[in-house]
Amino acid sequence: MKKVKTVAESLVTKMEVICPNDTNPLGILQGGKMVQWMDLASAISAQNHAGYVCVTASIDNVLFKTPAQNGDIVTIQSKVTRAFKTSMEIHAVAWKKNLEMKEKVIMNEAYFTFVAIDKAGKPMNIPPLKPVSKEEKIAYEAAGKRREKRMGK
Ligand SMILES: CC(C)(COP(=O)(O)OP(=O)(O)OC[C@H]1O[C@@H](n2cnc3c(N)ncnc32)[C@H](O)[C@@H]1OP(=O)(O)O)[C@@H](O)C(=O)NCCC(=O)NCCS
Repeated sequence: MKKVKTVAESLVTKMEVICPNDTNPLGILQGGKMVQWMDLASAISAQNHAGYVCVTASIDNVLFKTPAQNGDIVTIQSKVTRAFKTSMEIHAVAWKKNLEMKEKVIMNEAYFTFVAIDKAGKPMNIPPLKPVSKEEKIAYEAAGKRREKRMGK
C-alpha cells in the first residue's frame, strides 16, 4: 500500500490576470476559461496526491457566483478532499481582486473527480488521504456522500 498523504500535500494556488482574449464582448471572463483554469489547478492537485498523470472524469457543482472583468486578478486554490481506489475528489475555489477592492471576492467553486492512469490509460491505485483538521474531516465525509450521488448510488 502506498504511503498515506495529507490534504496539504495536494494544495495548489494558481493565479491569472484576466486579459481581453479571456472575456466575452462585455469584458466579462468566459465561463469556459474559468473552468479550464480550475481544471488545470485541480489536475496538479490530483497529480501531487497520486504520483501519476491524472485525467478529469467529471466536474460537478460548478457555481458561477460573481462575474469577473478584464484586468481582475484571479486566484484559484485546489486540494484533494478524498481519495478512493483510483479516483479522487478535488475541491477548487476561485476568487477575484483588483486594485479598487480591499478584499478578494469568491467567484466560483466546483468539485472535480480525477482518475490516476498509467501510460496505457489504465486506472492506477492511489495513496489514501488522511484528513487532519476538523474542516478536512467534514470535507472528507461530504465527499463520500457526493460520490454516492455522482455515481447514482
Ligand atoms: C476516467 C477514465 C480513466 C475511467 O476509466 P474506466 O475504464 O471507466 O475505469 P473504471 O470504470 O475502472 O473506473 C475507474 C475510477 O474512475 C471512477 N469514474 C469513472 N467514471 C467516472 C465519472 N463519470 N465520474 C466520477 N468518477 C468516475 C470510478 O468510480 C473509479 O473510481 P475508483 O477506482 O476510485 O472506485 C476513462 O473513462 C477516461 O479515460 N475518460 C476520459 C478522460 C479524459 O479524456 N478527460 C479529459 C482530459 S484530462
